[in-house]
Formats: sequence, C-alpha cells, structure tokens
Amino acid sequence: QTKIDQDRAERTEKLQGMGCKRKRVEDVRFTQGKGSYVDDLKLPGMLFGDFVRSPHAHARIKSIDTSRAQALPGVVAVLTAADLKPLGLHYMPTLAGDVQAVLAEEKVLFQNQEVAFVIAEDRYIASDATELVDVEYEALPCIVDPFKSMLPDAPILREDIQDKMEGAHGPRKHPNHIFEWKIGDQEATDAVFANADVTIKEMLVDHRTHPSPLETCQSVASFDKVKGELTLWGTFQAPHVIRTVVSLISGLPEHKIHVIAPDIGGGFGNKVGAYAGYVCSVVGSIVLGVPVKWVEDRMENLSTTSFARDYHMTTELAATKDGKIQAMRVHVLADHGAFDACADPSKWPAGFMNICTGSYDIPTAHLAVDGVYTNKASGGVAYRCSFRVTEAVFAIERAVELLAQKLGMDAAELRIKNFIKPEQFPYHSALGWEYDSGDYHTAMKKAMDTIGYKELREEQAKKREAFKRGETRELMGIGISFFTEIVGAGPAKNCDILGIAMFDSAEIRIHPTGSVIARMGTKSQGQGHETTYAQIIATEIGIPADDIMIEEGNTDTAPYGLGTYGSRSTPVAGAATAVAARKIKAKAQMIAAHMMEVHEGDLEWDVDRFRVKGLPEKFKTMKEIAWAAYNNPPPNMEPGLEAVNYYEPPNMTYPFGAYFCVMDIDVDTGVAKTRRFYALDDCGTRINPMIIEGQVHGGLTEAFACAMGQEIRYDEQGNVMGASFMDFFLPTAVETPHWETDHTVTPSPHHPIGAKGVGESPHVGGVPCFSNAVNDAYAFLGAGHIQMPHDAWRLWTVGEKLGLHT
Ligand code: CDP
Repeated sequence: QTKIDQDRAERTEKLQGMGCKRKRVEDVRFTQGKGSYVDDLKLPGMLFGDFVRSPHAHARIKSIDTSRAQALPGVVAVLTAADLKPLGLHYMPTLAGDVQAVLAEEKVLFQNQEVAFVIAEDRYIASDATELVDVEYEALPCIVDPFKSMLPDAPILREDIQDKMEGAHGPRKHPNHIFEWKIGDQEATDAVFANADVTIKEMLVDHRTHPSPLETCQSVASFDKVKGELTLWGTFQAPHVIRTVVSLISGLPEHKIHVIAPDIGGGFGNKVGAYAGYVCSVVGSIVLGVPVKWVEDRMENLSTTSFARDYHMTTELAATKDGKIQAMRVHVLADHGAFDACADPSKWPAGFMNICTGSYDIPTAHLAVDGVYTNKASGGVAYRCSFRVTEAVFAIERAVELLAQKLGMDAAELRIKNFIKPEQFPYHSALGWEYDSGDYHTAMKKAMDTIGYKELREEQAKKREAFKRGETRELMGIGISFFTEIVGAGPAKNCDILGIAMFDSAEIRIHPTGSVIARMGTKSQGQGHETTYAQIIATEIGIPADDIMIEEGNTDTAPYGLGTYGSRSTPVAGAATAVAARKIKAKAQMIAAHMMEVHEGDLEWDVDRFRVKGLPEKFKTMKEIAWAAYNNPPPNMEPGLEAVNYYEPPNMTYPFGAYFCVMDIDVDTGVAKTRRFYALDDCGTRINPMIIEGQVHGGLTEAFACAMGQEIRYDEQGNVMGASFMDFFLPTAVETPHWETDHTVTPSPHHPIGAKGVGESPHVGGVPCFSNAVNDAYAFLGAGHIQMPHDAWRLWTVGEKLGLHT
C-alpha cells in the first residue's frame, strides 16, 4: 500500500497541479526583457498620434486652428471633433450608458481633455505639433466640489444632455445629476434608527485616486483597406468587449476586427474602459491606410484615463447598548467627473456598493447613491477591487470602529459579536446578496492569536499613559479590518456588459502527443494566468502543467470572454477551465474503456490515468489516451480530444479576510511607521500559494499607497494636482512595510474546484486596516474621524488641531 501511495504521490508531484507553489512560467520572458508589450510593436509605415489637451477644466471652445501644426514637416494629419462628427465618432458610448466626447466639440469639461489628435511620422514630431494647434477658449466657472454640483445656480456642465431628464438609470434631479440608486428597506431602516439605543453617523470620504499601472494605456491600429479588416493591438483587460465596442461604433463587422492584447504591464481596472486614444488611432488608420500608434505618457494616464473612488459616504449604524448592530444607513455622493464612464456591469450604477453590510449580520439596511457630474476626468473604475467594493468595505469597517468607540467596546469584540455565523451560510444580506460560504470566527481567532492582540492592546494602554505623562511623543495605533469581498461577476441574472452576460470561457485542446494548448476569454495583466490555469488543467486531466500552454488576449483564437477585472478570472474562467477539462476527461474515459476492452463504469481515475477497478496494473495514461483519440477512437466517436466551456456562474464568490496593522506615529512630524501588518486571507481552494502570496503583497502595497498618500487632487480652478509621480504617491520597496501572510480555507460550494478570487482582497481589506490604525492611534485624544490619505503633512495637521505641538 505504501508503495502505491508513494507512486501516486510522485506522479502527483510531477503534474505540478493545484496546491503547489509552481514557479511563474511567464517570468522567464519578463525577467529577461523578452516580454512583448504594445509599445514594442513596430510595423512598416507606422505613424504616431498625440493629443492636444485642454489647459482649462471648463471652457467653451471658440475656435481651433490646426494650420500651423499641419505645416510642420512630418505631420500627416490633425483630427478634431469636426472630422469625427460626420463619422458619428466625436462621441463614444460608455459602459455606464452615457456618452463621452472623443475629441471635445463645443466645450471642454476637465483639464487635459482631448481636443485634437495629431498624427505624424514620429512621436517627437507629433508631440511638437500639438503645441502648434491654436485653440481659443473662453473659460467658464467650474465645479470641483461634488456637493456643489446640484446647487440651483451651479453651471450646467453637460450641455449635450441638459434637456434629458431621464438618464441610463432613471430620472435625473438636476442637469448635473447622473442617477439616483436606492436599495434596501428605507422605512424599516429609518424606524430602527428612530428607536435605537446607540447610533453613529460619519462622512467617510474614499478620496479620488488612480490605479497607475507601470505600463500606461496604449494602442496600435492597422486597417487593411483591401481586406477591409482592422487589427487593433492594445492594453485591454477585456479584448473581446473592446472588439464588440469597436464594431458597434465603427460599423465594421465584428469578424473583420482582430483585437490583440499582448503582454500587459498591470491594469488594476485602468485598462477596462475604452479611451479616446483607441478611437483616434483606429480612425487615423482607417483614414490614412497605415498603422497608427498611440501611447499615453504618465501625466496623461494619471489625469485623463479612469480615476478610482471619489465616494463621499454618509455612513450610519444603529445598535443596542450591548453592541448588537441593528441597522445600517448609507448615502453616497459619487463624483463621476465629466462623463459617466464608470466600468460597472450595466445594471449596477454604483457597482456592488450594496455589499456594504460587510461581514456582519445586520438585519436591516438602506443604501442610496447619487452620481453627479463635475469638471474632472471621467472613469470610476474598480481599482484593484470588484466594482466599488473597496468603498463599501471602507464604509463598514470605519463605521464599526466608530461604533466600538462610542460603545466603549473593544473593536475586535464588537466585530465578533456581529459576525455572520458559519451556520448562517448561504447568508442573505439585507441589501440583496447571497454570501456563498464563510467561517469568520475561525479566521478572526487565528489572526488575533497570531498577532498577539491582547498583548498589543496592553502595550497600547501603557503607551497612551506614557504619552499623557509627556514621556513619549509617539502614538500607537492598532488597525483591524475584517472584510468580505464579492468577486466573480457574474451570474447572467444580474451582470452584463452592454447586454452581454458576464460569463467566461476556456477552450482546451489535447494534441496527439499529449501536450495541451488552452485558450481563455480572460487576459492576465501580471497575475500569472499562464502558470495557474495550467495547474487546474494538470490536476483535472493528469497532464503535467509544463506540457500545457495557456494563451489569452487574441480574439481570433480565444473563445469569447468578458475579461479580467474584479478578481473574476478564477471564479469564472477558472471554473470554465475545470468544466472543459472534465468534458475531456469524460471522453478520455470512453476511449480508455475501448482501448482496454472494458466497460467505462469499470474504470476509475488515478492522478494521470484511468485504471481498471481492482486491477491497478491495468491502466491507460492520459498521454496514451490522447494518442488513441487521434488514431483509435471507439466506433461512432469523432476523433480528437478537445472541449470548450462557456461558464455562467450561479453566484458570486465571497472571499474574506482578517487584517491587523500596528502603527507608530510621531505626533511632531506626522510620520507613520507600520510596525507590523498581518493579513489572513480565505479565498477557498488555493491554486498556487506562491502566486496568492504575491497577489497579497501587491494588493497590500496598493492599499498602503491609497490609505497613506496616493491622491488625485484638484485646486479650485480644476487644475489636477496629482498628475505626476512627483506628486502622486507610488510606494517603492523603501516605503513599503513588511507583510505577514496567513490563510484559512473555506471552499466555495458552487465553484467546480471551490476556489474564490484573491487578487483584490488585500487591497479591499488593506485600505480600511491602515486607516483604522491611524484613527485608532489618535482616538484617545478625541480626534474624531480622520480622513484619508494619511500622509505626514495631514497627520501633522491633526496634531496641530489637537494642540499637541509645543
Ligand atoms: O481576475 P484576476 O486574475 O485578477 O484575479 P484572481 O482570480 O483572484 O487570480 C489572481 C491570481 O491568483 C491568478 O493567477 C489565480 O490563479 C491565483 N489564485 C489562486 O492561486 N488561488 C485562488 N483561490 C484564487 C486565485
């Protein structure tokens, strides 16, 4: 028996399947500079485009004179809205049901908005020529503060839709209003608040920031006039959706559009939407008949393509005296900038903000969201989170802390008291979700024991006394966050993009020699898909992961999929992969039965082979079966061994985690040092623990960035203040804290391999954890809620306001 077990263990290890720390196969090319990115593409005759951008946040365009630019040697064309209008392309549809100017026509609505597109023989000439385009503007009063958007005398921003009082999501209350979205039982919630023992209410601002991937957004369009075919390379998180959008807006048939997303250097939501640069490179190539490349620079990326957050959340909790939360009430004022270009599934104008009851059994809740226009860039993307989940988790996790403070209760104890209990799963939340699985108590206990929570609180109590006695100038904060994510969009009943249900797909082909190619509808931006999908297939069909090639990003070869964002790859395409592999396995079983002349039912699966039950020496390996599939299939069976699956998930998956942060803050300088950060994640079945750890490190680093400094700020004239890495905080290894990671495993009951997503959890849980640590440090001094980002300057001002400086 031991020998058989040992043999099985050896064969299992050789597969490098699920659960093993397989090294990332893509890194061989990335670490040797052999990655192939959009900007690496050099095509014969290729031209380069660059934008003329508005210096004003709100201004009327009086005139545009392109003659000086056109006269510059090397300039081939200058496009303006007047050129695009006859083609119906001066506006493009957004995912949120609005339209967005490709090139500004009569007005500009945010600083750096695209006004003209210069196409030249090289990038430098194009850039020089943008300065020769003469645009005459008449500056208009602008709106930067979303709370001023709907004032009666507010300037009307979107004149193109000012008479349209019905938006994509119902009636509009003001020309600068986009939508109102309400969910939950308002009357019941109000009634609980009216009679509650204890309530808290706070305006929690999740400030405007940006995903800022290392590689900016870019595209190369190449139109073949003879064939009438367009090839479009670009930084696309969702290549198939881009192909559909290009077809819809250009009128080109979808089969004549080839969209290719090569290697992508980070996305984090930034590369989901469609941008003016894509449209202009396509138009340029169609008009000129040669390839046109567009590559954003860093300032353009930070100031024009897809901001994140900008949610102003009035958050309330009602509870009993002993800390049982009875109700939650939230109003969000959502600043969407100049166009509603939020990247959410169509029916969700505020994404999955209604996950804001968090990990707690809150019986009654109501959420209302108002979206408004301002003179800022549009976007509203899910920066390393599922749609608006970071905002939702920030709201509940800060609110729980404020409630604990008011009740004089320990913040961890209050959480535990209100957790959804293991036996309550599947759990129906007051705001409409069905949580698939969770064991919050076990995770929290493990986290508290590992971090030494009790001892830390004792140390903090002593430090506070010492601070009051003037013996130290350091404050100690303990941040907690217990988050529940909602990832894997999503079931067709509630998730679509432009009417296309949010399924995803996998196509697996086994070649005669037993090697495999698998193609997915998703697209990695660095998450390691080439490594991990192969691990799923290896375990399912018993072929070593090293013999399996994963391909994504080419719409000609990959099956249609909705792409990668919102940690949906594992919950949706990962499931498709397992189901497609199982189809292959079922066919392989029939072939094996034919080969061994036994009944299918007499066979059992054993790691990499089918063997005859009770006769372990009689077997056929998957490799042998693959060969037979091409030369000796059973009679009446078609040859070949391949399968495709389009997976429509029955539910989302709900990963969760317990995070703790210990922080020391110097009150005199406002400098905050993270002493410890412990992150326990539960993403169900773990495919590759090493990749998960990498994802957690990355997500936490971006959480640290957002909470502790990263911000896109505007001055009163609408000048964007955070548009370069001089001003926008991008932590390096020097600033980034050390991460301690841990896990529990609570599989998803509806996912074929029990896996939930993980890529974004650390970001979602990390942001409130840092903010709670900062707030906890100052809480005993009566600081009240301190808004993010918590950079040293802002924390210094907190000390100043509290009169702590001498
Ligand atoms: O959609 P995206 O790839 O950004 O997110 P994800 O589905 O959370 O996957 C991120 C990476 O973590 C992928 O390489 C997954 O295969 C891996 N992962 C894992 O190893 N185990 C899980 N349970 C979830 C994800």
